[in-house]
Formats: sequence, structure tokens, C-alpha cells
Amino acid sequence: MNPCLNMNNVLIKRITLEDPLYEEERKLRNRILLRPIGIPDYGWEQNDTNSWHFVAVENDKVVGCVVLVRRDEKASKTQLIQMAVEKDFQGRGIGRMLVKHLVEFASKQEVQEIQIHARDDVTAFYEQLGFEIVGEPFLEVGIKHRHMLMRLD
Ligand SMILES: CC(C)(COP(=O)(O)OP(=O)(O)OC[C@H]1O[C@@H](n2cnc3c(N)ncnc32)[C@H](O)[C@@H]1OP(=O)(O)O)[C@@H](O)C(=O)NCCC(=O)NCCS
Repeated sequence: MNPCLNMNNVLIKRITLEDPLYEEERKLRNRILLRPIGIPDYGWEQNDTNSWHFVAVENDKVVGCVVLVRRDEKASKTQLIQMAVEKDFQGRGIGRMLVKHLVEFASKQEVQEIQIHARDDVTAFYEQLGFEIVGEPFLEVGIKHRHMLMRLD
């Protein structure tokens, strides 16, 4: 899929782990997702090799990211994880662009469903993008979460 550029001049790119932008993605994850809840830097990387990685880039700087993990061999089941937008860039539509790009990409693969363990205070963001809450709330890393799901036909 071609990278897409929006009116903010933010480019959404799918990258491999060999791409120099991957190191920036990891640092963004540390800053936005891990440190605020006391998880050591570079935690949650155990799935990175088995995933597709998407970054939002403005002026050569990574300002957002999201990761889609293959949950089975054919990648019919997947999980969206590590959704993060740099603080000063939040509220500009970058998170929405990243998820839309990821879903468009997934719909061209064998992917049949995308799950999310969504933090409870972010479910409305994912609902706007077509995900549904399923099942009961649960605790993960001490934070209330919800299972969310999108099925792709
Ligand atoms: C959640 C997050 C990824 C959203 O990214 P963003 O770029 O700020 O969001 P966008 O500007 O694309 O917002 C798209 C829409 O979702 C809404 N939205 C964004 N964050 C929201 C939230 N936490 N709760 C409810 N709605 C939200 C926006 O208001 C916007 O709606 P609108 O079009 O009606 O104005 C970002 O705020 C972030 O990185 N948060 C910290 C990390 C985090 O919580 N990650 C998710 C872990 S499950």
C-alpha cells in the first residue's frame, strides 16, 4: 500500500524492523505508553517480530505508531497493540489515520478479525473507527481494559 499524506503533512508508513524509523517507534512507545504506567523501557516487544508496524511521520520524526500482531499462522486473527500519538500531536486526527491505514492494510491480507485490549478511557476512540466492545471489563497492568473487536469480511 502506498504511504498516505494528509493535510497536516503527516505521512503514514508501514515499516519493517530494519527501518531506522523502528528505533524511533520504540522510543515513542516508551514515552507515551510504558513510562506513564511504570513499565520498563522496551517492554512489550516480544511480539514485534511477528507483527506489522505502522508509523506516522512528520518532518522525518515519528509522531505516532500502531502495531498489528498476527495471532495465528495465517494471520486470520490479529491484535492491534501499541497505539500511541506524541502528546503535542494528539487531537489532530493522527491516531484515526493510523488505525484507518492499518484496517485498510489488514483488509487486503487474510485478516478476518482485529482484536484490541483497549484502555477503558479510550474505547470511544476505537468505537468511532468501527470496533465494538465485547465481553466484560478486565484489569491489565493495573488498568481497566475492554476487549474490542472488528470483523473483516
Ligand atoms: C488515544 C490516542 C491514540 C488517540 O490519538 P489522537 O491522534 O489523539 O486521536 P485523533 O485526533 O485521531 O481522534 C480521532 C477521534 O477520536 C476522539 N478521541 C481521541 N482520543 C479519545 C479518547 N481518549 N477518548 C475518546 N475519544 C477520543 C477524538 O476526539 C476524535 O473525534 P472527533 O473526530 O469526533 O473529533 C492518543 O490520544 C494517545 O496516544 N493516547 C495515549 C496512549 C493511549 O492511551 N493509547 C491507547 C491504548 S489502548
